[in-house]
Amino acid sequence: MATAQDALDMVAGAFRASAHIYREMGTPLYAEFCEGGAEDADILSLADHGMEGAKPSHLFSAVHYLLLGDPSDPLSRYFATLADDPLPPGGAYPELARFCREHRDELRHLLQTRSVQTTYAERCRALLAPMCEVAREAGEPLNLVEIGCSAGVLLVFDKFAYKLNDQGVIGSPDAPFVLEGELHGGPELFIPRIGTRTGIDLHTIDARSEEERRWLLSLCFPELRDEQQRLAKALDIIADTDITMLEGNGLEHVPDVLARAENPLCIFHSACLFYWPADAKAALEEMFLKASRSRQFWRIGIEPSDSFDEWHKGRPGHESNRKPANRQSGEISISRYADGAVERRVVGWPNADYGIIDWND
Ligand SMILES: C[S@@+](CC[C@H](N)C(=O)[O-])C[C@H]1O[C@@H](n2cnc3c(N)ncnc32)[C@H](O)[C@@H]1O
Repeated sequence: MATAQDALDMVAGAFRASAHIYREMGTPLYAEFCEGGAEDADILSLADHGMEGAKPSHLFSAVHYLLLGDPSDPLSRYFATLADDPLPPGGAYPELARFCREHRDELRHLLQTRSVQTTYAERCRALLAPMCEVAREAGEPLNLVEIGCSAGVLLVFDKFAYKLNDQGVIGSPDAPFVLEGELHGGPELFIPRIGTRTGIDLHTIDARSEEERRWLLSLCFPELRDEQQRLAKALDIIADTDITMLEGNGLEHVPDVLARAENPLCIFHSACLFYWPADAKAALEEMFLKASRSRQFWRIGIEPSDSFDEWHKGRPGHESNRKPANRQSGEISISRYADGAVERRVVGWPNADYGIIDWND
């Protein structure tokens, strides 16, 4: 029988593995927290209230959330999202341990009531090219449905501007920001016209709620100050956009959504199905195939690949000269469902932050 000590050992293992990943991903503060936390039973038992598979980041996000609400605590000085000239992470662990001791009940409550559902506006960089392909094939305005939408940032991808290749800036001059990246190959880019927008999530985030916004901003890594500021602007856009948000399991909502949505329809998901068990993914595919007997629709998937999972578990990724964070770590696929069948093609491979996309020309 598993003991309480076994449970803490498991969490300690997650902290050690995450320390390595955080360093490679360029977030040394959380790496420092992980290294200290792995040896600290108080921190491990608190983190154990967090989400399976994400216990370290869940705890650090909850800490970040409290600090964003009241940045007067000295721990804030280590967060680039809270200090103009943050202290080096070296001395941060004792401050984290103290903060967690002082706020244990609030942190436990956050771990039990909020989930890790990280999103960044920058992820839209990997969505634009496949959306252009689908819009060209399916027509416009495209009606969008996202499974696992978090706050719905990707559902407003058309409101941002992009600079991804030698086409220069694509998008409205009124866009709140320009998302820059490297798209190697790919279709001619444009901003497709969008019709309806529907988001499905286990825990939908209301961009008009101050607390829910703060939770989403707290999920940003502390070094990503610019990304956090862009996410805040994206939330302002979402708050002003007509989006139907459906809370619950995608598998429960999809049949109804498919029955109601107008043509042309594009369903998409990003960093979501990767976490589903195989039988849930198979059930979703079955639903799509069934619905496609009476209508045609498209699906875009942007999901981490198995090699990213291996790397996440601390094993070496596939061979590449690129730095780990720049390596291809996912797959972009486009599927067309019609007449009870599906045609699927892999159109590209993004790196971990969707900033470098190698297109499958
Ligand atoms: C990592 S976030 C990704 C958010 C967004 N798609 C993006 O790429 O930025 C994954 C989201 O999927 C949601 N999710 C996971 N399983 C789900 C399910 N079965 N049904 C609906 N949403 C789900 C989570 O709640 C979370 O908000």
